[in-house]
Amino acid sequence: MEKKIYIETYGCQMNFSDSEIVASIITEKNYTSADKAEDADIIFLNTCSIRENAEQKVFNRLKQLQHLRKSKPGLVLGVLGCMAERLKSSLLEEEEMGMRVDMVVGPDSYRDLPQLLLDVESGQKAVNVILSSEETYADITPVRYASNGVSAFISIMRGCENFCTYCVVPFTRGKERSRKPESIINEARDLFGQGYREITLLGQNVNSYHWKNEESGAAWTFPQLMEAVASIDPALRIRFATSHPKDISEELLQVIASYNNICKAIHLPAQSGSSSVLKNMNRKYTREEYLSRILAIRSIVPECAVSTDIIAGFCGETQDDHLLTLSLMREVGFDFAYMFKYSERPGTLAAKKLEDDVPEEVKSKRLQEIIDLQNELSLKSNQGDVGKVFEVLVERTSKKSEKRVSGRNSQNKVVVFDNNTGLKPGDYAMVKITGCSSATLQGERTEG
Ligand code: 5AD
Ligand code: SF4
Repeated sequence: MEKKIYIETYGCQMNFSDSEIVASIITEKNYTSADKAEDADIIFLNTCSIRENAEQKVFNRLKQLQHLRKSKPGLVLGVLGCMAERLKSSLLEEEEMGMRVDMVVGPDSYRDLPQLLLDVESGQKAVNVILSSEETYADITPVRYASNGVSAFISIMRGCENFCTYCVVPFTRGKERSRKPESIINEARDLFGQGYREITLLGQNVNSYHWKNEESGAAWTFPQLMEAVASIDPALRIRFATSHPKDISEELLQVIASYNNICKAIHLPAQSGSSSVLKNMNRKYTREEYLSRILAIRSIVPECAVSTDIIAGFCGETQDDHLLTLSLMREVGFDFAYMFKYSERPGTLAAKKLEDDVPEEVKSKRLQEIIDLQNELSLKSNQGDVGKVFEVLVERTSKKSEKRVSGRNSQNKVVVFDNNTGLKPGDYAMVKITGCSSATLQGERTEG
């Protein structure tokens, strides 16, 4: 009988993309997928280590899943992804962990999964956490098992070598490497042929994408890759994430400006508004340099939305530093932000060299001020859109009513509107914005 497999994914878009690669590798080998953990013979948690609470969530889930072993003695529980890489075989220490895990597989070892599953079936515990300097899974066609059939991720590079002092990613995902451009372009073309209308090019640091053909010597940069993917069809939208402020080039901004189907939305994590905190974070830019990138975006792509990530309470952050973060947020007027409390990660440069000295309650207070300000900025940004007309790519019928549909505009804002004309996911519609909250725009369909 075919064994059933269930994959549960935590963390970033890259992890969701990796789970589609895992599904592809596994389903080629006579495993089928289960809709929920309770129905599966094999459960994989594809995990995240970015903050302590991300890991805690996975530990809780692993503990909760142990009861399934009573009804399924052969159940295989595997930890994949960043926690596998960070914690390695220590995850197999049953007594220490207070639970049992059967497999530990890091982000560069997924091709080994079928063999590791055989090892587990023969009664061994299976571990592979070897990082690679070459693996990009370029030849694997992801199985889009949780897809809406409209938007898809394509991973274009892996790893990160920026070594921001707070960040665990260079340790869990290893060296930077780019995927062959032809395989990316072919995957995008195939997706378009299948009806997909939006592609997000993914990497921990997409603008450092580079590929050199050893034979011809031809080199590819990220702006060139964007142009090639955008040229597939004007009806295929292109997004990308995530960019490091130090390498948002004018060349890239020119490419974004010249293609209608390259979305006008840039996620540009600032992390802090204080140059001295940025220095301690090893971000390689100052507040002024970040702001000059924003000015470049505003002048070359005026209608571009800008979103960010902010960390509250990093090592050594003073009240004045915090006020600089708030003032940077106001000065830029971010359309959207992901906001976090600093969480010390073992093994990072900050954990080794800097003191995690901002008290928990101060971190919480600062984070709340950042969230409150962002809500105000998001509302203001959305209010500024009322009266405008946007092209919206329909993604789904609204959760509240069948007759309402939702999608996103080029700026990545969610737009909800009435569907009187039988629009389906994957269709484009011109929508006039009539109202908003800080999270969504509401509108009505118009001719253009
Ligand atoms: N603590 C809090 N937030 C972090 N991030 C990365 N590492 C940490 C950490 N140790 C945030 C950054 C990054 C986003 C993906 O997660 O803002 O851009
Ligand atoms: Fe989490 Fe970073 Fe790993 Fe993504 S790369 S899963 S955000 S630790």
